Amino acid sequence: MKILLTGGSGYLGSILTRKLLKKGFRVRILDNFLFGKHPLTDVIKNKDLELIDGDVRDLAAVSKSLKDVDVVIHLASIVGTQSSELDPKTSIEINYLATRNIADLCKLYKIKQFVFASTCSVYGAQPNNFISENSEVNPLDSYGQSKFQSERAILQAYDYPTILRLGTLFGASYRMRFDLAINLFLAQALNKEDITVFGGNQWRPFLHVDDAAEAFSFVVENNMEGIYNTIWKNITIEQMAREVKKLIPTGIKISKDIVDKRDYRVTGAKLEKFGYKATKDIKYAANEFKTKISEDVKNYKQEKYSNYKSFFNSTDIQRKVYTQGPIFKK
Ligand SMILES: NC(=O)c1ccc[n+]([C@@H]2O[C@H](COP(=O)([O-])OP(=O)(O)OC[C@H]3O[C@@H](n4cnc5c(N)ncnc54)[C@H](O)[C@@H]3O)[C@@H](O)[C@H]2O)c1
Repeated sequence: MKILLTGGSGYLGSILTRKLLKKGFRVRILDNFLFGKHPLTDVIKNKDLELIDGDVRDLAAVSKSLKDVDVVIHLASIVGTQSSELDPKTSIEINYLATRNIADLCKLYKIKQFVFASTCSVYGAQPNNFISENSEVNPLDSYGQSKFQSERAILQAYDYPTILRLGTLFGASYRMRFDLAINLFLAQALNKEDITVFGGNQWRPFLHVDDAAEAFSFVVENNMEGIYNTIWKNITIEQMAREVKKLIPTGIKISKDIVDKRDYRVTGAKLEKFGYKATKDIKYAANEFKTKISEDVKNYKQEKYSNYKSFFNSTDIQRKVYTQGPIFKK
């Protein structure tokens, strides 16, 4: 079976690529390699892996990528609120319009399964109940809105899509990100710095990046359709900082300036009923990071580890992303 994976060189995609290859799938990646090809270095020569360097906004590149494909897993996106808000028009083009086009083409080319990476951010702020897939959505920012609009467009365009609403990811990957809460906390603690918490009472569902990859593989192997919250567990940001501190003793600095108002607790029971279970916890991630930080990551504050800083500062990335030219915000 051949899978088209968009965004296969990213934080999640680079793990998912290896998982799918290991399980015997043939994988074609469509990615414009904003963060380079290095996350795929040791698998690049795998005979079952093919790379297409292209943009998901380019219909010709998408059509070419869909040739002889059975399943599409669509991850490519401008990921994160801050990065999406740098140039909202471009984010709508990539996160929403391109997704709608890909779903249309999947229907046209009779692709057997279309799997989309959505986010629990679509729930916005509603911390009092455990939110299921049938609950109201209330995205608070343009990133969450673009993902929810995409879900609706996919549901219209493609008969039975699979949509995974992922919790906030954490854990080691071949393309590291330290702009994700737990990853940042672990990096701060390992560098003997205070953990910085903004607000702290906000609930979040978290999920290890390897468990997220496993969920995509699970819904493909079981040919599942539908919308699924995909999480490990819900915990407040402050409590998470305390859990990190228990594993790697350090201080915690709490700032009451809440920039991010998202606050939600979700249930992942629907997917778990089918037998999926996220198992990797922060102790697992802390152990990964102890080697990763000391061996690979010299300075976790470098811009390449943050999506927003990369989009903001790198003219190479800006040239690829912004069709009207770099936005040179420096
Ligand atoms: N990381 C999280 O916490 C999280 C949480 C919920 C949902 N998600 C979703 O999971 C998916 C993967 O996220 P990630 O953390 O791996 O992000 P990432 O930024 O590390 O990876 C995104 C990948 O998409 C590629 N890409 C971006 N724009 C493209 C374009 N126009 N054409 C082709 N390729 C393009 C990039 O080069 C990169 O390889 C995204 O759809 C994201 O919204 C992530």
